[in-house]
Amino acid sequence: MLQITQIMNASAIPAAFQPPPRLLMGPGPSDVAPAVLKALALPLVGHLDPTFVKLMEEIKTMLRTVFQTENGMTFPVSGTGSAGMEFCCVNLIEPGDEVIVGVNGVFGGRMVDVAERCGARVIKVEAPWGKIIEPSQIAAAIKTCKPKLVAIVHAETSTGALTPVAEISKLAREAGALFLLDTVTSLGGCAVEIDTWQVDAVYSGTQKCLSCPPGLSPVSLSERALKVARERKKKVQSWYLDVNLLASYWGQERVYHHTAPISMNYALHEALRLVLIEGLGNRFKRHEQCHLALKKGLDEMGLGIASQEGHQLWQLNAVTVPEGVDEADVRKRLLSEHNIEVGAGLGPLKGKIWRVGLMGETARPANVEKFLVALRTILKR
Ligand SMILES: Cc1ncc(COP(=O)(O)O)c(C=O)c1O
Repeated sequence: MLQITQIMNASAIPAAFQPPPRLLMGPGPSDVAPAVLKALALPLVGHLDPTFVKLMEEIKTMLRTVFQTENGMTFPVSGTGSAGMEFCCVNLIEPGDEVIVGVNGVFGGRMVDVAERCGARVIKVEAPWGKIIEPSQIAAAIKTCKPKLVAIVHAETSTGALTPVAEISKLAREAGALFLLDTVTSLGGCAVEIDTWQVDAVYSGTQKCLSCPPGLSPVSLSERALKVARERKKKVQSWYLDVNLLASYWGQERVYHHTAPISMNYALHEALRLVLIEGLGNRFKRHEQCHLALKKGLDEMGLGIASQEGHQLWQLNAVTVPEGVDEADVRKRLLSEHNIEVGAGLGPLKGKIWRVGLMGETARPANVEKFLVALRTILKR
């Protein structure tokens, strides 16, 4: 029997892929530093090689600094940000548990879906897209149930709103619940203070303000959260994401669990080094300055930012599409004529906003200027 490869004409084999030189100003991934790309291309070592084990330890230590936590259980889950979301939910939720989830965009909605798949009875706390979740809303929801977990999205990438964390965390703790935070878009771009805010479970992604390709999800669990995971009545339904098994791989025992994506860990190691060399404070300041420069330029063009005043994300700007402008056509031209990628609005914001990311390596004044010039040129036409 002929194999498919044997009958494929040599001329039909595609050329090696060569990506165009895009400027990634969408909701992620962001631009990646040359040193991180170089790290990806390093030769492989085995995933239990002593040098790789040392690299794993260094990643854990650097992640603790970036998350501002002393949690022992801090490591990157193999998978994208959604894997981190599932990791937190599958380990902490058992069927029948009551869980409060703040929903003010796509990712709160995704958390509801994931929690329900774990068997939770979910109490949704909703805010209009672009607005934050108010502590008073969480307080009201707590009065209606006995929550095991309260979960919110810190930086809603679908709307550009940054929900303050400390007060909601306090309410959760007073209610005897664990507190779960999505920091996929906030980590590395603005303050994320896991211990100060008493966050019990947190997940993030590598492809936003850490400026690494997508593929790993940094997570951290407090001792309270770990106790809940250890003392579950039922086994965690996901073998792959069971923290009790992963603990032996990422902990001192180094028991084989799965084959870590080695090159991605090289890349994350380098990306975290760059974050720490720059310094968290400097990095946050750079994101803030780029956001302010973008806002000023947009203002001069008569354009605004759609998300709630006072809670606008620096790293994801929901730019209002002017009346009568074809939103999709502008995005298409930015890409085809200027090599700039921006994101579209989702859900109720579809057609109404462009999502302009200023994350990690992308957050540079020259990129802001390049985008403003391109947008001005297209809109003039
Ligand atoms: C806030 C937020 N949470 C979760 C996710 C899911 O992450 P991923 O697409 O890496 O699975 C994203 C992705 O954009 C996000 O922005």
